[in-house]
Amino acid sequence: MKSIIKSVFVAGLILFMGFTFEANYGGPQNKQLTDKGIGPIKVVKLGPINKKLADKGNDIFENKCSACHDINDVNLAPALKGVTKTLSPVFIMNYLMNTKEMQQKDPYVKNLIQQWKRVPIMKDQRLKKDEARAVLEFLRTKN
Ligand code: HEC
Repeated sequence: MKSIIKSVFVAGLILFMGFTFEANYGGPQNKQLTDKGIGPIKVVKLGPINKKLADKGNDIFENKCSACHDINDVNLAPALKGVTKTLSPVFIMNYLMNTKEMQQKDPYVKNLIQQWKRVPIMKDQRLKKDEARAVLEFLRTKN
């Protein structure tokens, strides 16, 4: 009988730890996913990956981003693998189209700058809407 009570207690403890972990770990990430950032983009509709658009995004990435960013490894700036899981599509497009204002005002980006303060802040990319959308599609293929 005692061992049953013990098992139930241990199971409960594991469950509790699981919830706490979820709250600490899943929490902020989920919150970030709904964050839209600051800029002209209000909604982005995503469908299945559009290969042609992603290829265009790949070209833009090579030209305008790869000096600082790798997908898998930390370069001068954060690795971008999986970034579409932590940042919302709207946030990413606004950040690429309105980099400077978000660096000045957006709490997430301000915090990121602190973490990366050894390197110059991200240059204002001034991407046009269709370019930012293409880069987003490319990043979606790198989850
Ligand atoms: C001059 C170097 C540089 C270039 C070029 C650059 N970035 Fe960045 N990027 C950074 C730095 C540094 C950060 C950290 C935050 C900041 O400085 O704004 C960052 C942050 C990011 C983040 C947020 C990452 C995270 O972990 O949340 C994304 C997404 C991003 N960059 C995408 C891009 C894309 C896409 C391009 C090309 C269109 C690009 N960056 C070009 C330096 C750069």
